[in-house]
Amino acid sequence: MLTTRFTKLVGCTVPIQQAGMGAASPPELAAGVSEAGGFGMLGTARGGLNPSTLAALLDRTRELTSRPFGVNFIIRPGSVAAQSPREFVEQAAKVGRVVEFFYADPSDEFVRIVHDQGALVSWQVGSHEEAVKAADVGCDMIVAQGMEAGGHVRGTIGLLNLLCEVLDAVPGIPVLAGGGIGTGRAMAAALATGADGVRVGTRFVASAEAGVHPTYTDALIAASAEDSVYTRTFHVGWPEAPHRVLRCAIEAAQALQDDPVGTVINIDGTQAGVPRFAATVADRTATGYVGAMALYAGQSVGAVKRVMPARDIVRELVEEAEQLLRRSH
Ligand SMILES: Cc1cc2nc3c(=O)[nH]c(=O)nc-3n(C[C@H](O)[C@H](O)[C@H](O)COP(=O)(O)O)c2cc1C
Repeated sequence: MLTTRFTKLVGCTVPIQQAGMGAASPPELAAGVSEAGGFGMLGTARGGLNPSTLAALLDRTRELTSRPFGVNFIIRPGSVAAQSPREFVEQAAKVGRVVEFFYADPSDEFVRIVHDQGALVSWQVGSHEEAVKAADVGCDMIVAQGMEAGGHVRGTIGLLNLLCEVLDAVPGIPVLAGGGIGTGRAMAAALATGADGVRVGTRFVASAEAGVHPTYTDALIAASAEDSVYTRTFHVGWPEAPHRVLRCAIEAAQALQDDPVGTVINIDGTQAGVPRFAATVADRTATGYVGAMALYAGQSVGAVKRVMPARDIVRELVEEAEQLLRRSH
């Protein structure tokens, strides 16, 4: 019943894309979501990414699922994929069904590299102008990110209005709705508005397969929607980029005198200090004052009640959305 242009394009069975979220979305999560019929995304925005660590992430995901999955890159000054797109993006496009970009103007250079390998291109956007640009440079699908979203936030308007504008602006390609979607109700609303699917981040941060520290998960479970704060607090390493985190993380970081506040182990095995107010995700390897690290969370955090396997989150969202959509027909 929930077959859409998106599910047909990428080859999944339910219209849920798990957000690429750096170290929070390791191979286990991407594969878990794809195995459940959704579309899993491998996160690459993490310390120590190089061609061989990326190859290991891709191989591991492929080992865990034979279903299609995607690979997400943040494109910003200093990110490895921005510095050497051929090396990183081409490699991802050889394995991923979709390669997706976020946080730069849509560029035909990236689109060409992905298409040359036979994969599809997605761009997460925060405005309808950016959506039009993404369609113009040849993207195969778009994610409209409302400002309710957890993590870094590209635009300044709420999901419903952005979604309406983007759907009207780019009628020819599938559009996913992201930001603040944590329940089947919200999923049904996005689909009823005309979205081809939903992108879900924060709910999957509280999945059994996510790569985050238990302190982070506990804080998500304890939080409600009002605790998701739009801020520029965690700016070290990624200046001037608005994001949404839990209020308790801001308060804890402001109260601390220690700097760095802790450490993480990068994917290449090196240890890195986490400066106070760093953009670094509080992953499983974090030590120190984990509660004072960037605990990213969207307004969807109110829907996080406990840790669940990714497949159960997918099932819960789909069942609830289907029931509501049936009722409205
Ligand atoms: C912990 C975390 C890390 C994130 N990292 C990325 C990332 O690396 N790349 C990206 O495109 N988006 C990233 N995002 C944003 C998501 O793609 C998405 O827009 C957001 O999670 C949707 O809102 P929700 O969290 O309310 O579901 C991240 C979000 C979170 C919560």
